[in-house]
Amino acid sequence: MNAAIRAATMVARSVGIKVYGVSRGYRGLIAGQFSELQPHDVRELFREGGTMLHSTRCLQFHDVQARHKARQQLRDAGIDGVIVIGGNGSLNGAMALGDNSEAQGQAPAVVGLPASIDNDIALTSISIGVDTAINTIVEACDKISDTARAHDRTFIVEVMGRDCGYLAMTGGVASGANLVLFPEANRSPQDVVEAAVKTVLSNRGPDNKMGGTLIIKAEGVNVGTQELKSMLEVRLGEELGGEMADVECRVSVLGHMVRGGRPSAFDRLLGSRMANVAVRGLARGQCNQMVAWMPDSALAEQAGAPSPDDPYCWLVDLPFALRETANLVRGTSALARWRAAALSGLEDVFTL
Ligand code: F6P
Repeated sequence: MNAAIRAATMVARSVGIKVYGVSRGYRGLIAGQFSELQPHDVRELFREGGTMLHSTRCLQFHDVQARHKARQQLRDAGIDGVIVIGGNGSLNGAMALGDNSEAQGQAPAVVGLPASIDNDIALTSISIGVDTAINTIVEACDKISDTARAHDRTFIVEVMGRDCGYLAMTGGVASGANLVLFPEANRSPQDVVEAAVKTVLSNRGPDNKMGGTLIIKAEGVNVGTQELKSMLEVRLGEELGGEMADVECRVSVLGHMVRGGRPSAFDRLLGSRMANVAVRGLARGQCNQMVAWMPDSALAEQAGAPSPDDPYCWLVDLPFALRETANLVRGTSALARWRAAALSGLEDVFTL
């Protein structure tokens, strides 16, 4: 997100547009907490994780009066365009903020930049933060795999992603996991446990000794991770009897570690390129748009067009993108189904 703030500031200044940073998201917008950003405030920023503007969840923004107040604050400060950087909640707030039918007077022109490690925003093939998060997961899993192999243990590694299994899926493939568990598979808790049992048992060596097993589990799977470990141990006990002495299972929850850290080179470029397109789009009079990175073209063609400033970044209709996002989060969109089918189809490959 910092790379996007930096690029938005520098690109806007280069074409003579003043830029203000809004502190603490919609809470700061309602309170009029704006401060002008100059290139020297942001020049070094893209090496840092998080956001220099701070972020906060703001339930108050669901209230129409709070949104009126925010629009008034913007008008009072002479601000007519807003770039919102964030996930599903932030982008829904952006859509409401830019809604002219609700505004008393002119609503600001709004362009959203998708930023969420969950990769649960539709139309964009990737959101800001995802690549860094996957790299962190792979680094952690590589380290955990050392212990798994050395001690012939089974590790269940839980990764974030809210209702979306994308981080588990991609992190699992990239770290050579033996099993990936994700909510889009819609498995019953019992099926989840049986898949884990099958994986552990198939990972025994020719001498029947246990091998190191890595299971990546998305936090959105409908069995708690500790509970899965306990159920797995019980079932392995039933399968193995006396040999169960050889089995050791451990849980590692990566948690918020995956959300921070130095952004990868790709994330710096993604944030910078999206912000460049957002600023230039706003300057051309675009509004109620989201910037999407290399979208699936069949869907994107119904929603927008590539930016003339960067053919890899599309400007797509924000309400359209958010409707598709709701389907993606529910697991009912074509993309969610494809992700689930692709990973399920690989399950027997991972255990080889
Ligand atoms: O949406 C990003 C995310 O990190 C999810 O993956 C996770 O479920 C959630 O936010 C954690 O939120 P909080 O920091 O409020 O616990």
